Amino acid sequence: MRIRILVLSTLLALSGAASALTPDDVKSALAAEVKATDPAFKDFSAQRGNVFFHARHGGEWSCATCHTELPAASGQHTVTKKPIRPLAPAANAERFTNQDKVDKWFKRNCNDVAKRACTAREKGDLLAYLMSVKP
Ligand code: HEC
Repeated sequence: MRIRILVLSTLLALSGAASALTPDDVKSALAAEVKATDPAFKDFSAQRGNVFFHARHGGEWSCATCHTELPAASGQHTVTKKPIRPLAPAANAERFTNQDKVDKWFKRNCNDVAKRACTAREKGDLLAYLMSVKP
């Protein structure tokens, strides 16, 4: 019995470790991607991310259109009017903890806003900005 509990709790701990991605992990992966083509790369810029987030990039929308000017607040889809929970990790602990979700929405939303994919550097700057936003 005791052994079975031990095995079970070990399995639980292992599966927990595999899914426990943090915004810092997501940022490190992006940094590694940038470094692969630019070995001199040092760090992302929350300031550049802030500018990108609030600016329009040739289209009607900015990131702030759906995620609000202050991404610690709840937003709303500009077309469907569906509520969107805050994008800043400090205000919503689920943000940037699931790589598939992060990839899917960066891809879709960058296309919506800029009509192209965001570069790893842009994504890292955006994440640095979002991580700097306090509720
Ligand atoms: C047309 C509305 C809209 C615009 C514009 C928009 N988003 Fe989103 N975004 C959404 C919706 C809807 C979701 C998914 C629902 C949710 O996660 O709350 C989402 C989710 C995300 C996520 C998932 C994060 C996570 O870990 O849960 C990221 C990252 C993201 N958006 C970044 C951006 C960035 C960067 C921009 C600007 C380039 C942007 N969004 C512009 C609607 C939008």
